[in-house]
Amino acid sequence: MKKLLKIFGILAGLLVVFLISGYIYINSKYPDVGPAPELKIISTPEMIERGKYLAIGYASCIDCHSQRDFNKFAGPVVPGTEGMGGMDYGEGAGTVIAKNITSDKETGLGNWTDGEIFRAITMGVDRDGEPLGPMMPYMYFRNMDEEDIKAIIAYIRTLPPIKNEIPKHDLKFPVSLIFRTIPTKPDFKKLPDKSNTVALGQYYSGGCMFCHSPMEKGEFIKGKEFSGGKEFPGPNGGIVRSVNISPDKETGIGNWTKEQFIQKFRSYSTSEAQNIHVKDGDFNSIMPWTFYNVSTDEDLGAVYDYLMTQKPVKNLVQRFDPTGIPPY
Ligand code: HEC
Ligand code: HEC
Repeated sequence: MKKLLKIFGILAGLLVVFLISGYIYINSKYPDVGPAPELKIISTPEMIERGKYLAIGYASCIDCHSQRDFNKFAGPVVPGTEGMGGMDYGEGAGTVIAKNITSDKETGLGNWTDGEIFRAITMGVDRDGEPLGPMMPYMYFRNMDEEDIKAIIAYIRTLPPIKNEIPKHDLKFPVSLIFRTIPTKPDFKKLPDKSNTVALGQYYSGGCMFCHSPMEKGEFIKGKEFSGGKEFPGPNGGIVRSVNISPDKETGIGNWTKEQFIQKFRSYSTSEAQNIHVKDGDFNSIMPWTFYNVSTDEDLGAVYDYLMTQKPVKNLVQRFDPTGIPPY
């Protein structure tokens, strides 16, 4: 008996040593993305314009990094809070609050170099080389056109400084360890030519893919892309589900014309549409309707063309369940 206990003790000891050395190894070796690149962005009005278009529209920087008013439909930005951060994206992994990305020198990015911001957006580490949670979607930004990333930086440099200190994320174990291993070097793709609308639509549809495609164990389910059904906490209670935007004619958007698709976005662009009051317990949407309407008809049309090349999937989704239990 004593002997057995001793063996068990040795084994347990070895396991602890193994775990501790693994922990130390990951902590010291990762994230493994190297120093921030030497980079000096000479911004032009065109770049700032392009950066603004992306930061408000498809790249969603402003959605996530501002205060939103969810007493209104689709949560428009509270004017004057652009870039100040403060919303929690932890989703059960801990507390991961969107950072202050205004030009404030103490609490924002005012003292960061262009290279440090570039590395944060495309490789997912902060100024000190510490990992950012993947709620900050650097895995998508790492595949954008490098010139678009520079344009976004040129634009966020123009955000008026707001003093707002955001605490460092507070992650549960082992999430804290796993998040260290995710950052990787970027793999930039060129912005497709306007004439190739399907490729252009794909370039702009990372956010659509993320919210509208069901996942299993953190991976998109092959063959179910854009079929909806992903659940989110409703901003005003209950659960909200992304709907099916695959080209299925009955349960998706296969019967929509391109004009109808574009019109759906435009219908949220009026000031009336952005001032619809929503009471607690009522349906409210997390779909960034009030942001995407900055997109041009060409680019929305390209997204439509891309979606129409996808596999039609039959999946009827109920977009709101007032009594549903939120997933996180
Ligand atoms: C889905 C929400 C979301 C989107 C979209 C998003 N971010 Fe973030 N971002 C976050 C969160 C959350 C953090 C904090 C992550 C953490 O602390 O682990 C963050 C962190 C950052 C940081 C690090 C700042 C610091 O002080 O460490 C920068 C820079 C940044 N984001 C810029 C951007 C830019 C630029 C865009 C658009 C290209 C963008 N973000 C889009 C949620 C988002
Ligand atoms: C943050 C998550 C999120 C993102 C990003 C997102 N959606 Fe949605 N979308 C939703 C949710 C949730 C709904 C259902 C609620 C609603 O209708 O507003 C929805 C609804 C829709 C609808 C309405 C369909 C109908 O039958 O009424 C369309 C069309 C749509 N999304 C297209 C897109 C496209 C295209 C993109 C990318 C450019 C996109 N969505 C990005 C979450 C998202």
